[in-house]
Amino acid sequence: MTSALPYANGPIHIGHLVEYIQTDIFVRFLRLIGKDVVYCCADDTHGTPIELKANELKIKPEELIARVFKEHTRDFKNFLIKFDNYYSTNSKENRHFSDLIFNRLKEKGHIYTKEIEVTYCEHDKRTLPDRYVKGKCPKCKAPDQYGDVCESCNAAHKTTDLVDPYCILCKNKPVKKSSKHYFFELSAFSKFLEKWIKENKNLQPEIKNFVLNWIKDGLEDWDISRDGPYFGFNIPGEKDKYYYVWLDAPIGYIASFANLIGDATKAEKEWNSSEIIHFIGKDITYFHLLFWPAILHGSGFNLPKDIVVHGFLTVNGEKMSKSRGTFFTAEEFLEKYDAEHLRYYYASMLSKKLSDIDFDFKVLREKINNELVANIGNFCYRIISFVNKNFNGEIRDIDDNEKVIDEISKKIEKIKSHYENYNFNFAVNETLLISDIGNKYFQENQPWKLIKDDKEKVQEICALCINIAKNLSILIQPVLPKFSEELQKQLNVKNLQWKDIDFGLKNHKIGKEKILVKKIEEQEKEIFPLNLKVAKIIDVKDHPEADKLYVLQIDLGTEKRQLVAGLKGHYSKDELKNKKIIVVTNLKYAKLRGVESQGMLLAGDDGKDVGILTIENAKPGTQVGIEGFENSSEQISFEQFQKLKIIVKNNKPYFSSKEIKAGSESIKAEKVKDGARIR
Ligand code: 2FM
Ligand code: ZN
Repeated sequence: MTSALPYANGPIHIGHLVEYIQTDIFVRFLRLIGKDVVYCCADDTHGTPIELKANELKIKPEELIARVFKEHTRDFKNFLIKFDNYYSTNSKENRHFSDLIFNRLKEKGHIYTKEIEVTYCEHDKRTLPDRYVKGKCPKCKAPDQYGDVCESCNAAHKTTDLVDPYCILCKNKPVKKSSKHYFFELSAFSKFLEKWIKENKNLQPEIKNFVLNWIKDGLEDWDISRDGPYFGFNIPGEKDKYYYVWLDAPIGYIASFANLIGDATKAEKEWNSSEIIHFIGKDITYFHLLFWPAILHGSGFNLPKDIVVHGFLTVNGEKMSKSRGTFFTAEEFLEKYDAEHLRYYYASMLSKKLSDIDFDFKVLREKINNELVANIGNFCYRIISFVNKNFNGEIRDIDDNEKVIDEISKKIEKIKSHYENYNFNFAVNETLLISDIGNKYFQENQPWKLIKDDKEKVQEICALCINIAKNLSILIQPVLPKFSEELQKQLNVKNLQWKDIDFGLKNHKIGKEKILVKKIEEQEKEIFPLNLKVAKIIDVKDHPEADKLYVLQIDLGTEKRQLVAGLKGHYSKDELKNKKIIVVTNLKYAKLRGVESQGMLLAGDDGKDVGILTIENAKPGTQVGIEGFENSSEQISFEQFQKLKIIVKNNKPYFSSKEIKAGSESIKAEKVKDGARIR
C-alpha cells in the first residue's frame, strides 16, 4: 500500500492529510481483517521545487531534505499515520532501482535519445526546468502555469510548449536551445495501457474515462532527463544529465519497500507477487495511470491492482489560501484540535467518488459534538458507568434472542463492504446507526426503573450493550485508533480484531469509565478594534502651520495616503524617510491645523521619548494584528482609539497581554522604555 510521496520542500498541510488518512484507514482495516499488508511511503526529494526552496533558504538541498524529513515524520506520527516504512527518494535503494529500471528499459529499446529544444534563460545562464518557467497552458490557455503540468486541466506539457513563457527568476522571456534528452517510448504502450485500463475492474469509472480519452488523443513519448544544474540522480554514462524527478519518484515506492526488507532482489520478487495499491490525488493521475504502469510493465515489474484517486481539499468551498487564512499545516491544526477530529471528519466524507472534500471548522465542530460525542461517546460512557455503578463492573450472560443482535449484525456486514470499497463515509454512518440502536435499546428498556423489579434482566440488557460497545470499538478502529484503544481499555479487552466482532463477551469484568471525547467549544473570533497595516514612508514635509507636525506621504501597498504626525523634535525627516511603520487604517479622517490626516501611525510615548513602531521584514499593505483576533473593518473615532490600552513590553507592542504582529513577524517599538503607552 502506498500514498503519494510528498515533496520535501514544505510542511504537511491538511490538504495532504486527506490522502494519508485515507490510506491509513484502509491499511488499518486490512490489518484488522487479518491481511498481511505493508504501507510504504517516502519524501519526494528531487527536482526543481526542492532546489528552489533550498535556494530561498540559502542552504544545500541535502540539508533541506533532512530538515523536512524530521518535520514530515513528526506530523505523520501525530496524525496516527502508521507507515511500515517512511523513507527518502534520495537513497541508495532508489538509485539502484532507478538505474535498474532505466537500464532494462534501454536494453529493450524503450528509451532513446533525441536533440530537443529546451528553454534557456540567457540572463541567468541556465536551462530552465519546468518549475523555473511559467506561461499559459498550451491546451486550455490557463495563465501562470508551470512547464510540466497544468493545474487547471491536469494535462502534461513541455516547458517549450508554454505560450508567452517567462523565467521565474528574472521574468525575462527565455530562448529555445538544443540539448540531447532521453525519452521513454510511452506511445509504444498505448495498446497495452488501453487494455489494462479497460480490463481493470477496480479503477474508478471517472478515472477510466479520463485516461482512455488521453490514450485516444494519442500518447506522446516522455522526456525523462533534465540538464544540470538539477538536484537528482545522474544518468548512467552522462556528465550533466539527470533523471527527471517524476521518473525516480514512483520508483521510490519500490525503494522504500526494499529498504524495509533490506534486500533488493527479494523486494522485487515480493513486489511482483503482491497486490499493489496506490492512493493518489487526481492531479497526478497522468503520471500514475500512464507513465508508471508503462514503466513497470516495460521493466518487468508487477502492475498495481488498484489506484485509488481522491479529489482535492477545499476550505470553506475554496482552494486553500495563505492570504485568505485558510491554509492550515498539520502542526497548526493540532494547536486547537485533536488528530482524531480530522481523521473522523475526513472519514465521514471520503468515498470512492472523485469529488472534492470541503473542510469547514463549523462542520467539524458539529460532527464531533453531535456524532462522536453525543452518539458513540455518550452511549459507551453511559453503559460502562451504569454497569460499574450497579453491577460492580460485572456482566454475565446475554439474551441471544434480542432482535437488535440481528439488526446490528446486518449492519456489520455492510460496514465491512464499505471499508473494502473505500466508502468510509458509509462505514462511519452505519457505525453511528449501530450506536443509535444501542442508545435506543438502552433507553426503551429503562434499566434504571426495571432494576428494582428484575435485576437479572437488567444485567442481561447491560451485557448486550457492553457487547455493542465492544463491537463499536472494532468497527471504528481504522478511523479512530486511539479512541478505540481507550474504549477497549475501559471495557477491559485488548487488540481486538474484526473476527472478535460478536456478542460473545460474557462473565466479564470491565474497567472504569472515562470521557472518551470532549466537545469542541465554539471558538468565537474576538474582534480587535483596529485595522492595522504596514506602510512605507515615501515623503516627509514640514506642516505649513504647525511647528511640531510633519506631513507624511505613505505607501500602503494597494494605495497611498497622507498622514499628519507629531514627530518633530523626535525624528528628523531623513530618519523617517523609507521607514516601514504601522498605520491605523480605519481611523476617521481628520484635519489637523488645516491638513488632512488619513489615518495615524503608531508610536510609543514613555513621557520622555517618542519612538515609532517599525518593522523590517514585511511588505507595505501587510495586515498587522493579534493571532486569533479578527481586525475590525468598522471605522473608529480618535476618542475610541484613545481608550484602547496598547503598551510596550520587551520593545514590542501588546494589547490585552497579546503581542501585536505582522503574521509571524514581530514589530519593534523604537527608543521608548517598557510600559510606554502607544498612541
Ligand atoms: O505531486 C506530488 O506531490 C509528488 N511529490 C507526488 C509523487 S508520488 C510518486 F510518484 F512518487
Ligand atoms: Zn531568467
